[in-house]
Amino acid sequence: MIIKENVSLLPYNTFKINVIAKRFSFFSGVEELQELPEFAKPSRERLLILAGGSNLLFTGDFDGLVLKNEVGGIDLVAEDEDYVYVRAGAGENWHRFVRYCLDRDWAGVENLSLIPGSVGAGPMQNIGAYGVEIREVFQELEAYHIREKKVYTFSLNDCEFGYRESVFKRKYRGQFVILNVVFRLRKRPVFNTQYGAIREELEKMGVGELSIQAISRAVIHIRSSKLPDPAVIGNAGSFFKNPEVSADKFTALREGFPGILGYPVNGEAGGSGKVKLAAGWLIEQCGWKGYRRGDAGCHAAQALVLVNYGKATGKEIYELSTEILQSVKDRFGVELEREVNIV
Ligand code: FAD
Ligand code: EPU
Repeated sequence: MIIKENVSLLPYNTFKINVIAKRFSFFSGVEELQELPEFAKPSRERLLILAGGSNLLFTGDFDGLVLKNEVGGIDLVAEDEDYVYVRAGAGENWHRFVRYCLDRDWAGVENLSLIPGSVGAGPMQNIGAYGVEIREVFQELEAYHIREKKVYTFSLNDCEFGYRESVFKRKYRGQFVILNVVFRLRKRPVFNTQYGAIREELEKMGVGELSIQAISRAVIHIRSSKLPDPAVIGNAGSFFKNPEVSADKFTALREGFPGILGYPVNGEAGGSGKVKLAAGWLIEQCGWKGYRRGDAGCHAAQALVLVNYGKATGKEIYELSTEILQSVKDRFGVELEREVNIV
């Protein structure tokens, strides 16, 4: 492994924040992690694993070692009557993996089309979009324990997935490097069009016979119309999670704010009794949508997305996020939580 010093992370994060990593390298297999030189051992200095850098905000230079995950490969490992089991390297681009599945008529990831980043970061926060989360197609993953230098297999239960949550984001934060993920994909599709916007888009597209390829195209159209392309404007997708409140709190909020948007958590039957609020709506009501200060801003088409118009620093974006948090709390009594990983 060749470790470079004082490397700009500008090309490695979609927020386009220009900070310096003290040391930087790539790895494409567990062997390289096992053979890290003594000075670069994680016990000696801070370590950050990144891949697409599309869910990170750097608020300053990184005084440690950044390792970019480039573990590749997509392989069919098993199949039965109903499913194929496909292993993908953690460093594979997520959308490339989705396209690979679409090309073979393997169903289950079409609603997750065009999410930036890597396969390996998917389980980290249980990526989700348009009615589907990665946990629904997840079989198992292999992860390397940095201190113990051992590879562990995690089943679906072991990962403790929740809304944008997993053991890797909380309990085991910073302890494991995800190496590969095995997905369980359907040979015969079960279409998921419960998300209203997908149905509308399919109609607009004039799709007669439903297919996973058509759903993927619909998702791509919707996403492209709302979300800023990181190649054009720096961003990391939704900056905050959609907050969950009790049904009573929701009723009280609706009295004061009749337009408030909320959805029952886990569906209506057997639900948790909680309601998920649309954070984008709350932020928009506080007047932030389209707001810009210097190069830091709140996207004009989606208030949940904070953006870097050019040379904003991570600190400026972080400070803006704190002001937004505070104003939502003052107005609605609702606490937002950041979804993006702050480094
Ligand atoms: P990085 O940003 O490189 O890393 C994210 C975190 O995971 C970091 O803490 C990192 O240390 C850790 N990590 C990464 N790889 C590994 C590994 N192999 N082992 C251990 N830890 C690791 N997310 C959604 O869920 N749904 C969406 O619809 C969505 N839309 C987005 C739209 C845009 C325009 C953008 C920019 C982002 C969006 N995101 C969305 C967020 C982002 O795409 C996902 O979180 C994605 O999984 C991040 O992948 P990455 O490889 O870029 O991760
Ligand atoms: N809305 C507003 N104003 C806004 C933004 C949204 O009123 O400025 C309203 C919309 O009109 C809509 C509702 O809020 O009625 C929800 O908006 P949208 O469908 O755009 O989804 P979201 O809740 O803002 C979530 C995810 C996205 C995911 C989409 C589609 C989170 C934090 N975000 O966004 O994920 O792509 O749903 O499923 O859960 C990400 O995690 O980075 C991400 C982009």
